[in-house]
Amino acid sequence: MHLVATAAAALLAIPGAQANLNQLAKAAGKLYFGSATDNGELSDSAYVAVLKNSNEFGQITPGNTQKWQYTEPSNGVFSYTQGDVITSFAQANGQVLRCHNLVWHNQLPSWVSSGSWTAAQLTDILNTHIASEVGHYKGQCYAWDVVNEALNDDGTYRTDVFYNVLGTSYIPIAFKAAAAADPAAKLYYNDYNIEYSGAKATAALGIVKLIQNAGARIDGVGFQGHFIVGGTPSQSALASVLNSFVTLGVEVAYTEVDVRFSSLPATSAGYTQQANDYAAVVGACLAVSKCVGITVWDFDDKYSWIPSTFSGQGEACLYWQNLTAKPAYYKVQSLLAAAATSTASTSTTAPTSTALITTTKPSSTSLPTTTKTTSTTTPTSTSTAAHWGQCGGNGWTGPTVCASPFTCKEQNAWYSQCL
Ligand SMILES: *[C@@H]1O[C@H](CO)[C@@H](O)[C@H](O)[C@H]1NC(C)=O
Repeated sequence: MHLVATAAAALLAIPGAQANLNQLAKAAGKLYFGSATDNGELSDSAYVAVLKNSNEFGQITPGNTQKWQYTEPSNGVFSYTQGDVITSFAQANGQVLRCHNLVWHNQLPSWVSSGSWTAAQLTDILNTHIASEVGHYKGQCYAWDVVNEALNDDGTYRTDVFYNVLGTSYIPIAFKAAAAADPAAKLYYNDYNIEYSGAKATAALGIVKLIQNAGARIDGVGFQGHFIVGGTPSQSALASVLNSFVTLGVEVAYTEVDVRFSSLPATSAGYTQQANDYAAVVGACLAVSKCVGITVWDFDDKYSWIPSTFSGQGEACLYWQNLTAKPAYYKVQSLLAAAATSTASTSTTAPTSTALITTTKPSSTSLPTTTKTTSTTTPTSTSTAAHWGQCGGNGWTGPTVCASPFTCKEQNAWYSQCL
């Protein structure tokens, strides 16, 4: 076992090795940088080698198998075997769990959605489902997505079985049941198209207040972050919406990020735009201290949900199918490294965390291993970059000289780092 500082130092001492996303996010003050995954993918050993590296992904979200259709396929019959595969994977690798999800109109078994329930019956069904599932995972989940996607895009409530029978009261009912079953888990409302201002974001603010006014606990709001290349809001627009939620006393997180091309094949300019779009999202989270982390909805195009849901679209992830990192990956890495550097320079304590304790050797096999020393003969600034900090790359305007004894190593066209 290695403490983070030791593991990071060991990793960075390897020529050509780079700091990975979670380790940089933590150094920048976040709780995690994570990924969703799913049961079928865990038989892909090349994929798993990247996923299990907690320096890269310090948090895991089960993509499907904690949903109602898997966990209570018939009334009163509970099954956690598939969900347990993912939660055990995360625990074995020292990764934080975001648990997903308890109440959602989709992937809901027809015994729930097609029943004709009284309010009392459906309340019992909700309470029983949540008590069982949250109870089963008690102590394991950093956070639960308690209610998922309660809103239509125009800000009205979805008329699913829960709303039709219970009105908006099903939402505080669900949060109260989750709070009772695991007092330590952070309880989240999670949705998409609430990342930018508009009727849906306003309605989501209303959901936070609805829960609070009912005397129930809500700890966080999850912004899914399914964006389109060239159609992603700016960092400042995103951060401003995050702050409007933080004002209500909740933490925030990006929970399902991907940035898809709406038409393929992708162009070189498109990859640059995609990198900028990912950077807007990560930058918004970095700009808001109550934004605890960023989760991508899988990191590898091979397992992206996009092509099967949006015909003709795709290439939405940080890695290509061949497990090579895209320009977007390096852009995110660079942003996190810069934030880690500025955090480190204003703090006297090294980042430490038990979440990064790992018994596995840090792996960087998916990353380029070429190392070149960049020229430092024409520094444009007298300031120096600290250990791990960025010191060069396309578009970089910060310091190009490293604090002693570190040297600036080019990792790729977008990113040179003080190692
Ligand atoms: C991986 O796939 C991408 C996209 O097809 C390609 O540009 C890249 O060169 C590939 N990398 C490797 C190492 O095969």
